[in-house]
Amino acid sequence: MNIYSFLSVGYDLLDRIWLSEKGNDPRRVIESILPNEKCKVLDMCCGTFTNGLSIARKNPNNLVVGLDRSKPMLFEGKRKVIKEGLKNVRLLSRDATDTGLKDESFDYIIIGLVLHECDPDLINRILKEAFRLLKKDGSLIILEWEKQKNIRKIVKYAPLYFAEVMCNPGYFTKFYKADKKKLFKKYGFETDLSISCNYTVVMKLKKRLEA
Ligand SMILES: C[S@@+](CC[C@H](N)C(=O)[O-])C[C@H]1O[C@@H](n2cnc3c(N)ncnc32)[C@H](O)[C@@H]1O
Repeated sequence: MNIYSFLSVGYDLLDRIWLSEKGNDPRRVIESILPNEKCKVLDMCCGTFTNGLSIARKNPNNLVVGLDRSKPMLFEGKRKVIKEGLKNVRLLSRDATDTGLKDESFDYIIIGLVLHECDPDLINRILKEAFRLLKKDGSLIILEWEKQKNIRKIVKYAPLYFAEVMCNPGYFTKFYKADKKKLFKKYGFETDLSISCNYTVVMKLKKRLEA
């Protein structure tokens, strides 16, 4: 049992309170990046499937696979998929470090609000698996918390900041402050696009071409 056994039911409040306030909602930004073409999308560590659900709804031509190791989080995701009657979705209960899926089988991989809560070894293993699963010309989409400069936003984000520091001692603040472009470069990804959103940043990355 982990923290998501308790958080699964209330998790989507995160979107209502922080992410969807007036301004750039990162979920809408991610949606806008993905075209409605015949392609495969992996929502890695999908949680309650918020990213995957809006993409599957907007893009019926996409096949959207959601993967998470927390059964309660996946259960919430499944409930939403059934409620909307979406047919272009598959949900898998797997560990992101060892998915058992085929090499280079996805056009887009999304990793949303996951890496800040991982220790460096887990970040390493998740990004290596994402690299293996992504097609050569595919895109990795990262959604992560962004350091705030505006006082009103710093104050509103404070409860989440302290919750993250307490739940992920030692590595949250390091990741929060890190130069993400540099970090992803270490794992073979080049940043194509970086868009500041409400409390977060959405990054679109490509596999670096070998010299
Ligand atoms: C903060 S939630 C993010 C959920 C969702 N991606 C979003 O954008 O809201 C983090 C999720 O990552 C999942 N997770 C963490 N490590 C994982 C791993 N090694 N394999 C699969 N899922 C993992 C947790 O179970 C949890 O559901």
